[in-house]
Amino acid sequence: MPIYFDEDKRLFHLQAGDCSYVLQIVREGYLKHAYWGSKLRSYHGSNLVPGMDRSFAPNPDTWDRTFSLDVLPQEYPAYGNTDFRTPAYQVQLENGSTITDLRYKSHVIYAGKKALNGLPALYTEDDREADTLEITLLDEVSGLEVVLSYTAFREYSVIARSAAFHNTGRENLKLLRALSASVDIDGADYDFLYLPGAHCRERIAERRPLGHFRQVVESRRGASSHQENPFLALLSRDADEEHGEVYAMNLVYSGSFLAQAEPDQFDVTRLSIGINPFDFCWQLAGGESFQAPEAVLVHSSQGLGGMSRTLHRLYRKRLCRGRYRDAERPVLVNNWEATYFNFNEEKLFALTDEAKKLGIELLVLDDGWFGRRDDDNSSLGDWFVDQRKLPNGLSAVADYVHAQGLKFGLWFEPEMVSVESELYRAHPDWCLHVPKRARSGGRNQLVLDFSRPEVCDYIIASVSKVLQETSIQYVKWDMNRHMTEVGSAALPAERQRETAHRYMLGLYRVLEEITGRFPEILFESCSGGGGRFDPGMLYYMPQVWTSDDSDAVERLKIQYGTSLVYPASTMGAHVSAVPNHQVGRLTPLATRGAAAMAGSFGYELDLTRLSEEDKAEIREQIACYKKMRSLLQFGELYRLQSPLEGNETAWMIVSEDRREAWVTYVSVLARPNPANRWLHLAGLDEQKDYAVACVLAPGRNTAPDIPESWKVQKTSEIYGGDELLHAGLNIPVLAGDYQSLCWHICCTESWQKLC
Ligand code: DGJ
Repeated sequence: MPIYFDEDKRLFHLQAGDCSYVLQIVREGYLKHAYWGSKLRSYHGSNLVPGMDRSFAPNPDTWDRTFSLDVLPQEYPAYGNTDFRTPAYQVQLENGSTITDLRYKSHVIYAGKKALNGLPALYTEDDREADTLEITLLDEVSGLEVVLSYTAFREYSVIARSAAFHNTGRENLKLLRALSASVDIDGADYDFLYLPGAHCRERIAERRPLGHFRQVVESRRGASSHQENPFLALLSRDADEEHGEVYAMNLVYSGSFLAQAEPDQFDVTRLSIGINPFDFCWQLAGGESFQAPEAVLVHSSQGLGGMSRTLHRLYRKRLCRGRYRDAERPVLVNNWEATYFNFNEEKLFALTDEAKKLGIELLVLDDGWFGRRDDDNSSLGDWFVDQRKLPNGLSAVADYVHAQGLKFGLWFEPEMVSVESELYRAHPDWCLHVPKRARSGGRNQLVLDFSRPEVCDYIIASVSKVLQETSIQYVKWDMNRHMTEVGSAALPAERQRETAHRYMLGLYRVLEEITGRFPEILFESCSGGGGRFDPGMLYYMPQVWTSDDSDAVERLKIQYGTSLVYPASTMGAHVSAVPNHQVGRLTPLATRGAAAMAGSFGYELDLTRLSEEDKAEIREQIACYKKMRSLLQFGELYRLQSPLEGNETAWMIVSEDRREAWVTYVSVLARPNPANRWLHLAGLDEQKDYAVACVLAPGRNTAPDIPESWKVQKTSEIYGGDELLHAGLNIPVLAGDYQSLCWHICCTESWQKLC
């Protein structure tokens, strides 16, 4: 049982993987946070917060001058009754007041974990995997009950938290704020890590020392967004990839969120995360309930690498679902950067022919196959084939692709409607909008009002129809603008500020329904690239198009930041053409391949325009990737050098049994007379010997005139694991910009597997 309750001390001790989390009911029923960190055998309050008279810290209840909620580390703090820090929740009563006071009422502990009603969440497959503690808090005046739920996973250093609100009284309550988790952590001397970005520059990690103020990351866009990610972490100042303390929170939600760290005057840091309270208000009439999304809390005492590996394993096994959760992902070619909207049957057949010859397994038909869509100004919502481009229908394309032995994939953008569409003409009020206000465009499209059940039903039916009528094995689910004029024609005035969250609930229902109806399809989510790369979407779709920036050098930073939280199998990564369409950069094919192999691998270029030399190299890349695919998609990641810290990037993927690994090194700019370089590997078994083969090296297409002696030979040597970890692996001097090397490392007992 990983959850213990000490009745005398009214203390709960949760043990999850290598961590402990302790909370306690104190005094008149307040819920105190006592400890979160490395696993403890037992907890006896050694880190006690001394009770003393603190000036300007008011005293609730008994007016005991040595007690104030402003000083007490808490689990789910309120506003207005002596704690001046940011509250976890806030409720307005009928009399207009916003003061509530939650006290312990009861608790239960049970094996396993319940699903969250209508929301994505971590799950267990067997009740023995985790225990859950549910604590019910009650505000006696209003009858508001809040159930805080904590699941402690046996095999992961993870606590999953959420909060459910139940109005057991008669008053109409208004929920103004309903965060999923709040924790008051000892200390303020931390670094703050978060993942800001932009379209084509998603999740470029930033780390900075915490100051004594509220450090907030948030989205108000109706999507988790390119600009921020629902993730934050506190790091001890000495934390690096393998050492140091990390406390991380990630929200299983795809809409507007808030995540913040607030060090207080006594050097306690309040970490909290949840739905963004900005423009949020939920009516909670007597008898009604509201479920907040789930927050994933991870502790690592092995630095960022430890945090990432925990999250990766957890998300691969207990967040992603369905047939593709554990299945190797196919090598695909997507026609977007190959043709954009300008394709026809003949072009798709030609792409398929080339794809087959190269060993590609899936052809994805992207935007432009439906309605009358020659550019991005029309037809969203009209999910029927454009017969001008595909006169024989989608099935003719699918049949051709299948006849060549490939799978067929299709793009949709189901949450949107073009003004120029049959759907909009028929239902102009089916989009988010506010009466008498302009409807702002974004990519010339509007957002369908998924808070309305009939809109969701229409989308379920129209997408399902296409998927039923054509044999489709992959769907790319795109979403290309954020919400403005957030209002619904179907909701009464007092519920307008529920629209954005109701939209998410509608979206999750649609996704649950469609993915449930078509369990054989591999779904990939996308939002102008990685604008909705969050655990909420991963629950329905096990991979995401990481970014619309397919440039290999830019991808190093994007994939580095993404890899802090999300596993390789979830990151769509493609080799695209040069000059690159986003930045105009010319990078070698080998480096484009090496970078894309860090994720679910594919191509996004016109295969019919490749030289014979490039085709040969691509055939080699694909053959190699297929051989290594299981390791690359499901192995354990060790980041060796950060692209944010210098000219070089390196990472490696190690199999769970530590018998095999894949190492990638990329040097961005060439340097004259460079210093010596060794790569200190990680994750290997010191006691084992490994054969090390340099398998993908810069080829003929880099600096053709360089002397022979500079060319990297594809060699294979045997070294001890200890030597590779401590002495390191020499990096040869590479000629030219944007060069890369990949090594396959294999335990000598299984050396025959070497690429
Ligand atoms: C944005 C996506 O990120 C691209 O990959 C592509 O699918 C376009 N949308 C199509 O409009």
